[in-house]
Amino acid sequence: MMTAPLPSTDGVRVAVRVRPFSQREKTSGSKCVISMHSRTTTTIRDPKNPEHRKTFTFDLAYWSHDGFQKDQDGVFISADPSSQFASQKDVFHDLGRGILDSAWQGYNATLLAYGQTGSGKSYSMVGFGANKGIIPNVCEELFQAIEKQEGNEEYQVTFSMLEIYNEQIRDLLSRTKKPGGLKVREDQQLGFYVDGLKSVPCENYAQIERLMEQGTKIRTTASTNMNASSSRSHMVITIQFKQVFLDSNLTKQSSINLVDLAGSERQKSSGSEGDRLKEGSRVNLSLTSLGNVISALADAATGKRVLHVPYRDSVLTKLLQPALGGNSRTTLIAAISPADICYEETLSTLRYAERAKKIQNKAVVNTSTLMRESKAENNKVLLTRGNSRMAERPACLLAEPGPGPQTGQPTWAHQLEQAREEWHQQYLAIAQERQMTETLPHLLNVNEDPQLTGVLKYFIQAGSCDAGRAASNAILLQGLGISDKHASFTNLDGKVTVTPQSKCKVVINGVPIVTKTKLQHLDRIILGSNSAYLYIGFPSERGNEDLNRFDYDFFQLERAAAEGVSVDKLGAAGCREGNADPSVLAVFQDYVKLMPLVAEANQMGKELEKGLRMELKVKNLASSDSRGYDLQKEVMVKVTHQRTHEVWIWSKAKFINRKFLMEELYQRFLEGEDGRVAQEDDPFWDPVEVVHLGSAHIWLQPLAYCMKLEDQVEFLNCDGIEEAVLHIHVTPCSPAGQACGEEDVVIDPSELLGKRMDFQIGLVRCLGIKWLKEGAERGIQMGYRIYDLSSTFYTKPVWKIVNPQIEETVQFTALNASQEFLNYLQTNALIVDLWGLQEGCAQLSCSQPDPMVTSEGHIMVDTKKISTVMDTGQTTSNQISELYMKLLKLEQEMELLRNVNRALREENVLLKYSLEKAGSAQQAQKPSDSGKVTQTPAQLPAEGEIHHTSAQQASSDRELAKALKVFYQSLNVARGQFLRLRHYKPPEDDGLLRPFVHQQSQRLKDFGELLESSLWRLKSDVARIVKEKRACSLHPG
Ligand SMILES: Nc1ncnc2c1ncn2[C@@H]1O[C@H](COP(=O)(O)OP(=O)(O)OP(=O)(O)O)[C@@H](O)[C@H]1O
Ligand SMILES: [Mg+2]
Repeated sequence: MMTAPLPSTDGVRVAVRVRPFSQREKTSGSKCVISMHSRTTTTIRDPKNPEHRKTFTFDLAYWSHDGFQKDQDGVFISADPSSQFASQKDVFHDLGRGILDSAWQGYNATLLAYGQTGSGKSYSMVGFGANKGIIPNVCEELFQAIEKQEGNEEYQVTFSMLEIYNEQIRDLLSRTKKPGGLKVREDQQLGFYVDGLKSVPCENYAQIERLMEQGTKIRTTASTNMNASSSRSHMVITIQFKQVFLDSNLTKQSSINLVDLAGSERQKSSGSEGDRLKEGSRVNLSLTSLGNVISALADAATGKRVLHVPYRDSVLTKLLQPALGGNSRTTLIAAISPADICYEETLSTLRYAERAKKIQNKAVVNTSTLMRESKAENNKVLLTRGNSRMAERPACLLAEPGPGPQTGQPTWAHQLEQAREEWHQQYLAIAQERQMTETLPHLLNVNEDPQLTGVLKYFIQAGSCDAGRAASNAILLQGLGISDKHASFTNLDGKVTVTPQSKCKVVINGVPIVTKTKLQHLDRIILGSNSAYLYIGFPSERGNEDLNRFDYDFFQLERAAAEGVSVDKLGAAGCREGNADPSVLAVFQDYVKLMPLVAEANQMGKELEKGLRMELKVKNLASSDSRGYDLQKEVMVKVTHQRTHEVWIWSKAKFINRKFLMEELYQRFLEGEDGRVAQEDDPFWDPVEVVHLGSAHIWLQPLAYCMKLEDQVEFLNCDGIEEAVLHIHVTPCSPAGQACGEEDVVIDPSELLGKRMDFQIGLVRCLGIKWLKEGAERGIQMGYRIYDLSSTFYTKPVWKIVNPQIEETVQFTALNASQEFLNYLQTNALIVDLWGLQEGCAQLSCSQPDPMVTSEGHIMVDTKKISTVMDTGQTTSNQISELYMKLLKLEQEMELLRNVNRALREENVLLKYSLEKAGSAQQAQKPSDSGKVTQTPAQLPAEGEIHHTSAQQASSDRELAKALKVFYQSLNVARGQFLRLRHYKPPEDDGLLRPFVHQQSQRLKDFGELLESSLWRLKSDVARIVKEKRACSLHPG
């Protein structure tokens, strides 16, 4: 890759980088939607509409998706010279060198990494293992270049590292955490700065490496203590670089800011949108504000009038003010995933980058005389709040760096001296840890963020040691659900064992343990809710294993498998030729992702004494699909109050939103504040609501044949288990409500086309409602919607009865049955939903405006035609109804006339045929009887005979139609039985499996018998009709 030239103006420079597929993406068969046809263009293809492509042009486009191989040091390099692969070196070459050039010239420089979680921001910024990212490379080259300088100059480098989580700033180089975090202050000259942030003087790259390690350790500990996800936090590293030209008494200084932003994914609006606490969390505030600032600046750059750039809205935007539109040369690296499932997020990242590209900065060289600087420093000293052993002073991002040689402030030389002492101590500690790592068995932390995995080590010394929260433990662990004394480890005779304290959660390789258990090298251990560790055995047990294999996903998948959750189980119905459906895979991934979060939420709830139990459920959306398709699924969280038994159902998005709020509350509680909040602000609380218990499918096909349906169907809940049984009637009837009889049954539903159809839906009874068995004070309502009606019909609430008599019947009318309606009846089911009412909740009622009704007061369905007429809007709705009725009447009369016409035509054909037959018989007689010229009436088929033939024909047609009707009827019953058979799911409990199999085979037998008897009856009926017909033709009259 060539070095791209720096822009002549100070426009924000933008680069895009696409990473390889992750393991997860590979397993789910993801497709790549990104292509880069030149060094500057990025094209994204819409997976749902491949024709739809969008190309973005930025300063640089890095293809790191494929075309690479690992060299012997583990570094990813191009697989061959023709490969367009961009390695870490290539990226550093362009972006890192650009930053260094700016720094040497005395400009401030900022590099921001933006992109969704897991898109590769940290990979580009920090890197992994041998694949070092921009930050370490910039630092290393900076010192290399300093070493090469030979003039009479002094170089001062200081390093600081902070994290912003939930609008709180944490100093990642300080072991003491300030409650509430460090504060951002504003100075007229300096702008915004972080008060009390530690800024450590460094003399070589090794020291920076050490500081970064230390910072990552603190970040990891913070992330496990607070169980806060690091992908939600922003990390900012600032290197202050000052060149002092001693001959000329001049200084040049640069502030280099390297920012690894939080994952940019937007909360899916569906689900959490309706949450009453939607705006409560501040976790996204910094990122949202950053977006707003960028948009405002982009607008300003394109000539739009912008009154206000909202820098002050968040901590991050305050600190980045100079980088965005101010005194800095700024680069943004947009990290993107190649996968089709990330299409929306990737597109949004590219759009974001496009806006950032428009921003214009005003960077200047920061030079100063030593005299002037001393004055500024004096002012700064007045602002200083920090007080630490290392140079702890107001390190402001992008503000004037480095202390000057004035009184009251330690000189640079003095600061270095102080730092050296500390370095010495640290190097001893590192050497000791290194030695222990090589000789002792230990636990390695495994974090959701790969950057934070393997950072913490807990050594298991010979003998026995306790692990837990209390300071007295040899292994001091923190994290949700970890008790003061959680477990004991022993290291005796070359064996390591772990024993959980009573009731403390210890999971090994996915399986919870309660007694002393021997550990094997590479065992996976989860302590408490979700603190994950990999056990590294004695040196003799270790080989050349790839530890990266045991990442966070590995732990969670193993745990899910042990709990019986798998793709196969979730997608049992949707499996096609061994390939799991993508939507099932997506649900599985959601499930595995949410599983530990639910465990954490439960633990927080427990400690805050909320008395709730949260469980993950998979909701089968097929239960709301009237065609019964079985694929769409969705995860949700069922929340139950353990004492009152109140139940709530939360969507995934709502749960995630609530989880952030719970963390905030829990954090305050841990910091000694009161854990209580007003009920309306409590993330654990919601008003009581109606709960969806299950759905019943009633196939409507019989109605398309004008046949009555009387059925007992199960309400199945989201687990496919029976929640209750519904006794329902669907009855075709006359306009007056008289039930139709057998004579009204039609053979072909198209016979009903254009005709008036009336039918009644009667919910008779509900039996064995579990919801009421579990809580006697509860109630139920049922609701259903049919065809094109926009309103749902709800039954009246019934309370406290397990087998309530409902007896609610509604008559529906299709005045002019359309083909679509008839198709609907033949292929769809009526879905009746069962809703659970709880004390104090509002009952369900029809939310839509009143539906249209007939003159008899029946509810009209299949009203598309009427609506079309009404849409013309030329007449009032009363007139329309009248006109429409007339139109229908006319249409019906026309249909009648058409039928008469058809019958007459058929009779005509018959007569013509008889005449022709008679004519040809006469012709045949002619040669033998030439004398007879005229035809006698006797030789013509007698009129009576014709009538007799047609009467006979009509009677056998009737018979045949009747036989077919009977056959259709019984086949429909069979179909119903078959559909029910398909719906029965085997019980979870193995003990119930035998009765289930027995019942199922009995049902199969009944089904077979019904099929046999229907066929037999059809055969014998047809045989009888044929026999009768033959007898008639042999003995006419
Ligand atoms: N260019 C790349 N080449 C190889 N692997 C990569 C590359 N980019 C990212 N990865 C891998 O993808 C995974 C996620 O990357 P990374 O941790 O950098 O994402 P992130 O954007 O920092 O996510 P988060 O917002 O959660 O911090 C890591 O395992 C990383 O090794
Ligand atoms: Mg990251």
